[in-house]
Amino acid sequence: LAYPVLATLAAYLLGSLSFAVIVSRAMGLSDPRTYGSKNPGATNVLRSGSKAAAVVTLAFDALKGWLPVVLVRWYGAPYGLEEGTMAAVGLAAFLGHLWPVFFRFQGGKGVATAAGVLLGISGWLGLATLATWVIIAFFFRYSSLASLVAAVFAPFFYVLGSGVAWYTDARVGLAIAVMSALLAWRHKDNIRRLLAGTESRLGAKKGANP
Ligand code: G3P
Repeated sequence: LAYPVLATLAAYLLGSLSFAVIVSRAMGLSDPRTYGSKNPGATNVLRSGSKAAAVVTLAFDALKGWLPVVLVRWYGAPYGLEEGTMAAVGLAAFLGHLWPVFFRFQGGKGVATAAGVLLGISGWLGLATLATWVIIAFFFRYSSLASLVAAVFAPFFYVLGSGVAWYTDARVGLAIAVMSALLAWRHKDNIRRLLAGTESRLGAKKGANP
């Protein structure tokens, strides 16, 4: 039991590294929690005007979801870590991003980290979900709408790939469903703005988002 618990705790701590804040600080940009949507995430960092900072934030926030999952998947077996732990560490990294212990439990919406977790579970699952995001973002130019639609599709992609692209595990499926539900809930202000027609489009700068 000790190894799964330690792995889950480590994943939560890793997830708690809010890279939007860390990267902005390192690059001398203002704190993303003070402008735009005030969300510590890559989309809002993009509103600072620095594409580089947004890309680095996206990469590291995704990496912290991907890494614990693949570590368990590739090297976990000798330590008795299997699918259940894979689900637990993925969810823990995601929860760390939403409620980071290092940032007064005020984190982001979990899009990049969830993408990393899905890519870690299966490259195909991750790619299918990312493709959904890209298609919606391309046609509608809303990061939040793309994230919401991708989150709705992710659990279905996981079930669809069952027995074809990967072996399906109920605990992993549940973890994905929980991530999607929490992700959608964290977007409640975005949903309100989308319905009101006041959501800021991708590429819009600082002041544009309430
Ligand atoms: O990364 C979260 C995205 O879906 C929305 O971000 O800053 O527009 O609320 P934001």
